[in-house]
Amino acid sequence: MTEPVLIDWNEDKRSEFRKGVMTARHRLHMAREFTEEALAALLERHPRELTDICTMGDDPSDFDSWRAGSAHNLSGMQLLEAVREGKLWINLREAMNRDAVYKPLFEGLFAQLRRLNPGYRPISAYGGILISSPKAQVFYHADVSETLLLHVKGVKRFRIYPPHAPWLHEPSMEGLLHKEKTEDMPFDPAWDADAATMDLTPGSFVSWPLHAPHRVENVEGLNVSITCEVVTKASLMRNAVLHANGAMRRMGLKPRSTSTQGVQALAKLAFSKAWKAGMKIAGPRKPMPKSEDTFEVDLGADTGYRDRAAA
Ligand SMILES: [Fe+2]
Repeated sequence: MTEPVLIDWNEDKRSEFRKGVMTARHRLHMAREFTEEALAALLERHPRELTDICTMGDDPSDFDSWRAGSAHNLSGMQLLEAVREGKLWINLREAMNRDAVYKPLFEGLFAQLRRLNPGYRPISAYGGILISSPKAQVFYHADVSETLLLHVKGVKRFRIYPPHAPWLHEPSMEGLLHKEKTEDMPFDPAWDADAATMDLTPGSFVSWPLHAPHRVENVEGLNVSITCEVVTKASLMRNAVLHANGAMRRMGLKPRSTSTQGVQALAKLAFSKAWKAGMKIAGPRKPMPKSEDTFEVDLGADTGYRDRAAA
């Protein structure tokens, strides 16, 4: 595909990009790289250590129902069938930035974003391909990096909440940066009234401010989307301040400011650097699964999987 990925960027979108919730249109859902045949081939060749397979319950506050599994001896087409018929979520981490077939699309997207948004200079960017069941959901969470989503197949209901308290629970973000927990944070279903809610269809592009919590419920069809995690100077600075606040809290102090401006923030940045001393927090992480694999994808089961016998 040599045409531009994004098709309707304008002055309004440019001014909202990364500051608010903004949507645009893209054309990757029409690319031959996103036919089921192409995705089945990708499922077969993508490195297993970069492939996460999960299932989950129906209750949006039952975070513990999210669990990891694996699929052995299934073809890519069989795996797509199991996702279409079951309750599964597959993340092909870094497929967009590592796979030779998808990398040109990813590079084209970011070259275009830089062209369309003067001053936008990602330090690094990673792109995964998510393939999920018609009734799958992703629980309330916030991501460490700036995030973009390009929806390719099916329909998803996407809810984005404001990036500050009470919706954003800072101790959870600090814990995440200190690698103590997964992205889960306190969630009250009443907050749905405060969310920007949208149904994503093939060709939808959406971006939101750094650390804005969000949750996703699939509405219909086999769902495929591209999620991009982008590290920028702004995300590094903000995460350094939160990381330093978390470190101070762990030393019994009570940090109050989360400002990324001024002398105090610069001192925190230095403190955070010292604390980490070589610890890498910026890159893409293995998202969410809390446990060892507890199920095996199974085409014969209604849910698309069967539980592993306990060892
Ligand atoms: Fe996310």
